[in-house]
Amino acid sequence: MRVIQVGIGGMGRAWLNAVRNSPQVDFAAFVEIDPDIARAQAAAYNLDQSLIFDSLPQALQQVDADAVINITPPKFHREVTISALAAGLPVLQEKPLAGTLEDARAIAAAADDSGVLCSVAQNYRYRQLTQSVKRVLDSGELGAVAAVSVEFYKGPHFGGFREEMPHPLIVDMSIHHFDMMRFFLGSDAKTIQARSWNPPWSWFAGHASASAQIGFASGAQVAYSGSWCSQALETSWNANWRFECERGVLLAQDDRVTMQRLLRVGSGEGALVNEHAEPEEVPLIEMQREGQDYLLQEFYEAVTQGRPTATTAQDNIHTMELVFGVVRACDSAQTVNLD
Ligand SMILES: NC(=O)c1ccc[n+]([C@@H]2O[C@H](COP(=O)([O-])OP(=O)(O)OC[C@H]3O[C@@H](n4cnc5c(N)ncnc54)[C@H](O)[C@@H]3O)[C@@H](O)[C@H]2O)c1
Repeated sequence: MRVIQVGIGGMGRAWLNAVRNSPQVDFAAFVEIDPDIARAQAAAYNLDQSLIFDSLPQALQQVDADAVINITPPKFHREVTISALAAGLPVLQEKPLAGTLEDARAIAAAADDSGVLCSVAQNYRYRQLTQSVKRVLDSGELGAVAAVSVEFYKGPHFGGFREEMPHPLIVDMSIHHFDMMRFFLGSDAKTIQARSWNPPWSWFAGHASASAQIGFASGAQVAYSGSWCSQALETSWNANWRFECERGVLLAQDDRVTMQRLLRVGSGEGALVNEHAEPEEVPLIEMQREGQDYLLQEFYEAVTQGRPTATTAQDNIHTMELVFGVVRACDSAQTVNLD
């Protein structure tokens, strides 16, 4: 499969590497609007400069390709992805599906109308930690999940578009954790209460911290708190998770998974007491491919076998509704109900 990669800047590097690692996928061309980045990446990755174009329509005229990988900043996703779909080319694109809910809906509608695959790279799903938590939850051994708490604290200095966004944490980062919630619970969000703020020392123009209470259709309640302006004792990028289940508790902390089962309710001195098994560490699942490598292989198989991926634009619209539902709840200080 021959792909055109649009955007070869920051995150573009991860995809240049993923395509290089793939025995099935090769490059047809590249699109990059910044000539300095085009030159620097051509030198760093030994790319053929004559295959780097400054617009997707130009690349489509000049080369034959089977698919497009869109790694541009969110505000360009709509234009790039819809022109590829209109040309009949399946698209694998970075999260968020788009920079606004309106643009995301336009992309999902274009994928529906054209019948061409648009897949969103929700790479956090395809990590050992995430897959290991999912396996325990799906096994049913801890029973139903009633509540989840999620804590995320980092202090990255990225520069660039993130430092100008009104809600950088929620739209650019928490989107991964919100998508993981949907994946873990196999359910979509229904009600949202949330607050966001910017710590006094923040280097972001928008709100770098937020907390949200999210009710899922499954009945589970999720309490989320996060910051991109934390000054110390950072959590993992995957965040720390605690699942309160019917027959025990599951923790994913510092990228390790631990569970403790409830054995029985026994009689203590004058009161009933919960008796537990010893806490046990859950071994992480071995994965043949993770992250971008997994997503690229999944996309290749979907395109060549004519089937959808797990995270199509049409599915991912529910992650986007959750993300922008949290933004709306923060901006309005009102409870948001998602239909
Ligand atoms: N999944 C993850 O873990 C992860 C991590 C980082 C970034 N991302 C996502 O990747 C996307 C890109 O982010 P980034 O950090 O690489 O941004 P970036 O600004 O570092 O790089 C984007 C590149 O796209 C180029 N570009 C912009 N508009 C273009 C257009 N219309 N045609 C061709 N090239 C264009 C820019 O010149 C730049 O080189 C964003 O959607 C971001 O959210 C995902």
